[in-house]
Amino acid sequence: MKATAKAHTNIALIKYWGKRDESLILPMNSSLSLTLDGFYTTTSVEFRTELTKDQFYLNGEAVVDGQFDRVTGFLNLIRSFAGKDNFFATVNSTNHVPTAAGFASSASGFAALAAAAVKALGLPVDETVLSRLTRQGSGSACRSIYGGFVEWEKGSKADGTDSYAVPIAPADHWDIRVAAVVLSSKAKKVLSREGMKRTVDTSAFYSSWIDGIPHDMDQIKDGIRTKDFEKVGKIAEANCLKMHATTLGANPPFSYWHDTTMAVMHAVRELRENGIPAYFTIDAGPNVKVLYLPENEQILKQSLRDIPGVHDVISSKAGQGISYL
Ligand code: ADP
Ligand code: DP6
Repeated sequence: MKATAKAHTNIALIKYWGKRDESLILPMNSSLSLTLDGFYTTTSVEFRTELTKDQFYLNGEAVVDGQFDRVTGFLNLIRSFAGKDNFFATVNSTNHVPTAAGFASSASGFAALAAAAVKALGLPVDETVLSRLTRQGSGSACRSIYGGFVEWEKGSKADGTDSYAVPIAPADHWDIRVAAVVLSSKAKKVLSREGMKRTVDTSAFYSSWIDGIPHDMDQIKDGIRTKDFEKVGKIAEANCLKMHATTLGANPPFSYWHDTTMAVMHAVRELRENGIPAYFTIDAGPNVKVLYLPENEQILKQSLRDIPGVHDVISSKAGQGISYL
């Protein structure tokens, strides 16, 4: 009863930021992402009758802290879905992405875990059911089931049955690239989960964030359909800034940005002034992702690498959804 799955991370162009139900992981707003081929997780799950509890190894090391609790809590959900409550598993996962540094390791991590666990148990689930299950491990992970552009429809039901990801356009629809600008691979101080909760509970700006989502979502989908890079970039960049603005209005206030985060933002604006279309977006961490078109790859990467404090620039194309190894 063993299976191995590979899942890519995704970068949100319209951010998921805030939950309406913490335990089922139901979002306050719909979100939209691009799956990235450059960053991924492979996870193998083996259910073994001789085990009395789960075991979790991440990048070859046994994990026993809160990360273990999250994994075993998620396996409890899969076990109860399968009606196999006394089957424990050995989970071996490798992140080809920095962990907890704002590169969405939780997205590729939980998507790979869900896919491998479901397959190892031989459950006949389709992608919608898989996305719905994955959502309960980490919200953004439900989008990594699919490749290309993906929307997570927030749904409205209290039981979460209508809250899952749907594919908007496949990876080969449009060759749009993302440069991940690595400033720091250190784990962040405020995890996304904690940051979004503080924001929902206390931010003076939270209701404006929610009010702006339907417009941003309509516009970006239109831009993706017509392959209008400027439109998609402008909406994604503004949406990211609005999300980060909510953290400044929280109590206590916080910010994910470092000095170099701002330097990269300025450099991207300067590139645009010089005729190179490029737009930034930032998740819950200091690192910046820059959207660009393939013809500008060389100049864009060189300009970003020249910024003091930038450790690396890793390019990614649109990636595929879940696969089994
Ligand atoms: P990130 O920006 O990396 O997604 P988050 O704070 O959203 O940061 O999530 C990081 C958490 O995701 C980790 O602390 C861990 O609990 C979980 N995680 C990361 N990688 C994996 C993995 N491969 N398998 C299971 N859980 C993982
Ligand atoms: C800023 O999906 O990591 O990256 O559901 O609590 O696990 P949990 O949060 P998570 O949050 C992602 C937040 C974000 C925006 C996004 O990816 O949409």
